Amino acid sequence: MIKIIVSALILTIFWSQYTISEQLTFKLNGKIISEYNIMQLSNIVKPLEITIYEPHEQKNRTYFGFPALAILKDIYKNHLMSNKDLYITCSDGYKPSIPVVKFLKYDSYLVFKSSNNEKFTIVNKNQNNEFVELKPYFLIWDNLKHPELKKQGTYDFPYQIESIDLISFQDKFPKMSPPVPSSESANSGFIAFRKYCSTCHTINGEGGSKGVELNYPVNVTEYFEEKWLKLWIENPSSIRFNTKMPGLNLDIDNIEEVINNIVEYLKAMKEKKITPDSK
Ligand code: HEC
Repeated sequence: MIKIIVSALILTIFWSQYTISEQLTFKLNGKIISEYNIMQLSNIVKPLEITIYEPHEQKNRTYFGFPALAILKDIYKNHLMSNKDLYITCSDGYKPSIPVVKFLKYDSYLVFKSSNNEKFTIVNKNQNNEFVELKPYFLIWDNLKHPELKKQGTYDFPYQIESIDLISFQDKFPKMSPPVPSSESANSGFIAFRKYCSTCHTINGEGGSKGVELNYPVNVTEYFEEKWLKLWIENPSSIRFNTKMPGLNLDIDNIEEVINNIVEYLKAMKEKKITPDSK
């Protein structure tokens, strides 16, 4: 009996460190299906400690959180199919969409606390050393176990996560796909744009809102000279002092090709201007 009371007390003290009311909303095809706080999530799977290479700070850090796939499987059950994407909304306007296959292939964690008494914050070296609160939830990948993820840097590491929506990207963003037919390069560029740019930028009003609209009413390639646009994508701070946009600093051999394809995609979108939905 005493044991139960003591462990209940320890648990209460443990949980009282967090704002238990911090909710994480889960949606299916845009409709809310459930809301969970940290304590409720821990009923699905026990939180654990995980050390990763923190790509924003470029050093190892240890966090406390839940294996993401266990949570997703419990919540979405047989809806969690490999042709779908998880569309994540963060309170700062960042909106990445990450294919379900990536969660099936690599270990990821939804963390809610730093270990070693460190604050649950980071300094984002990629974004002009911006100081960032991570709460309520931060998605991280075990890039020590899977070194190929380390090369991808900060991609797919969203913080300030408020909601997760299981949806197919095509259904979510019909106005962002390139016109049919488009060149192979523009189609590849769309895949790269989805991954590296639509997290922050809208096309015809669809996408993240940390950056600016790039197609409507005037497409960025109509006012930005191509050679400067390519340089901007690779290294924005070489053009604009103190800019908050991070460069596409991928550790890959074909970065030039990726940038070319993204520009081809943007050029193709000139022919597909659709009035954005009013907010
Ligand atoms: C983390 C968020 C973020 C990501 C990712 C991002 N951008 Fe940006 N982008 C911004 C912000 C913020 C600005 C405004 C920066 C400024 O004016 O200093 C911006 C500005 C721009 C501009 C200048 C637009 C104008 O009219 O001034 C272009 C072009 C652009 N981004 C293209 C891209 C492309 C292409 C990608 C993908 C390779 C990308 N961005 C990825 C945040 C982002």
